[in-house]
Amino acid sequence: MKKYVYGNPLETGAVVREISESKTDISVFQLSETDEGLEFSCRMNENDVVYGLGEQVRGMNKRGFTYISYAADDPIHTENKHSLYGGHNFLILHRADPSVEASFGVFVDDPGKVVFDIGETKRDLLLIRTGKDCVVYVMEGGSLINLAKQFRELIGQSYIAPKWAFGYQQSRWGYKNADDVRSVVWNHRSRGIPLDAVYLDIDYMERYKDFTVDEERFPDFTGFVEEMKEQGIHLVPIIDAGVKIEKGYPVYEEGVRENYFCKEENGEDFVGAVWPGKVHFPDVLNEKARAWFGEKYRWLIAQGIDGFWNDMNEPAIFYSEKNLKKVLEEISSIQDDNLDLNDFFHMQEIVEGLCNHPQDYKSFYHDMNGQKVCHDRVHNLYGFYMTRAASEAFERIAPDERLLLFSRSSYIGMHRYGGIWTGDNESWWSHLLLSIQQMPSLNLCGILYTGSDLGGFGSDATEDLLLRWMAFAIFTPLMRNHSAAGTRMQEAYRFEAAESFRRLIRIRYGLLTYLYSEYMKAALSDTLYFRPLSFDYPEDAHAYLVEDQLMVGESLMIAPVYTQNAKGRYVYLPEEMLMVRMRSDKERTYQTLAGGHHYLDVALDEVVFFVKKNHMLPLAILEDDAKTTQDVSTDHLVWIGIADEKAEYVLYEDDGISKNYAPRSEWKTVCRKREELEN
Ligand code: NOJ
Repeated sequence: MKKYVYGNPLETGAVVREISESKTDISVFQLSETDEGLEFSCRMNENDVVYGLGEQVRGMNKRGFTYISYAADDPIHTENKHSLYGGHNFLILHRADPSVEASFGVFVDDPGKVVFDIGETKRDLLLIRTGKDCVVYVMEGGSLINLAKQFRELIGQSYIAPKWAFGYQQSRWGYKNADDVRSVVWNHRSRGIPLDAVYLDIDYMERYKDFTVDEERFPDFTGFVEEMKEQGIHLVPIIDAGVKIEKGYPVYEEGVRENYFCKEENGEDFVGAVWPGKVHFPDVLNEKARAWFGEKYRWLIAQGIDGFWNDMNEPAIFYSEKNLKKVLEEISSIQDDNLDLNDFFHMQEIVEGLCNHPQDYKSFYHDMNGQKVCHDRVHNLYGFYMTRAASEAFERIAPDERLLLFSRSSYIGMHRYGGIWTGDNESWWSHLLLSIQQMPSLNLCGILYTGSDLGGFGSDATEDLLLRWMAFAIFTPLMRNHSAAGTRMQEAYRFEAAESFRRLIRIRYGLLTYLYSEYMKAALSDTLYFRPLSFDYPEDAHAYLVEDQLMVGESLMIAPVYTQNAKGRYVYLPEEMLMVRMRSDKERTYQTLAGGHHYLDVALDEVVFFVKKNHMLPLAILEDDAKTTQDVSTDHLVWIGIADEKAEYVLYEDDGISKNYAPRSEWKTVCRKREELEN
């Protein structure tokens, strides 16, 4: 691996391995300087493939578009968008003909805006535009798997969530009080739908103030957390980046007193606005402020809370005080005018442009180890460092325990402290596909604990969409049904097909032993839990073209159905595999399929997946009344697999909550021929 340093880069915390700086010129790129910064370019051959960039729009192969790393609070994830919530500047350029040129991986450690033009301007040209100060790491040699591993070793071990966070989780922006939550739990329990967690969105707080609980809505919060625990439910409250400006609110007062908030150029606290109205943003890039903000989680942990989601941390800014003033003045100056097309569009533009205005990001400052740094230059670090603040505090508060933590915004390096969810998607079929395609890209960037809002956040989810989405999300580490206020309620029990949902969710619990084992292996050995097919079948040219199937862990391939009214789909098998068709955790059929293309029927309430030859899948047999991950036991496992000679599987079992990750037991089972073994 080579490390190239340009200008005076800031320490971002992305990387954990010490690499000495290379004194030679970067070899895989042509480098030129522009007025704004640096430009790295290289030619791509017709069949080369580009993987990576984490949370982005479009497919797994990123060729043919421009992606911009600049964390954006943009809920409409359509394919014309260039930025989503994260900044994940790692990609692999896979060379189709390694005898001519070697594949390589590149990580651009620049937390400001970075542009990846991957053949949009010129089809065969890869262009990366950075600022003047950055560090570039280049990994060379070896297979896709090897390049990915080199990168993961550079950035350190991925966050490991508690085992309960691999269960089914229910969320909605709109659960307003304890009774709403009780009803969600009761409805799952009374229908036998397993459930491990319910989320508390902004309504649990007192007027959207971080680290408060509205006493009218949740009169005895500690008692309520305990009551939920007794039912096997973990409550997961949201924490927002902005701290409400309000006299008497201790978080605000302390932050002002200690100078812990981001500053304007003139040294005053920067004023933005989010849910509570005007807020200050904790300067989480400042070590002291970070420790202070992290300590605030203690109060909720003391009340029994063991999981959090960090939101609005791009940071989202509805408007800044000074920009709003400017816009209102301009509007009042034209109020008596006869607005023509241009005037009207201009007015519309300035009003809409209030939100997340680029100028606002350029107008506030951090104090990084005594250095005053403009936010714009380190924009992509904010969500990372907010999550780091929490995680570092958890180390002090509950050093031996895993707490659930994930964030909306992130940068490479944050994967050591928490996971992410993919933000505000929509109940669209295209977003089901997007979610499938984002998973391996995120894994490449170290983010293993992830998933998208199952069923879609915005818009109304239809029953068939939710069924298909569920059948995919069974395989994502974070399996959380979440939706926006004002949309159709989309809890599993709201639909006629509640029984099908119950069965699908039980399949997740049946597969949990496998999914969790594979997660642990991926985290502990710096490998990928989700992979494009080409990672496992590098010699198969067709595997590089498959954009809608994934390898999951060492044994499985999935091919989710993601189009409406489809009764099945075409599936490509790179080799002979065992197809497993499940209607419930108890009903399953098997069929060995030859390598090649197949059309397969997949009913709306089925899960179909494929076991690789000479690999195995442990399936836990559940009791009829299984409610949570606690009820999944390895005492009764069915082993599924086909083998020419033999297959082995190492099952990873630990207590799921402590940080003693060494497996308590390892299972090796050998399957000698095409059969299902009962253990
Ligand atoms: C934006 C988040 O992305 C969404 O998940 C959440 O429900 C809303 N904020 C309200 O907190």
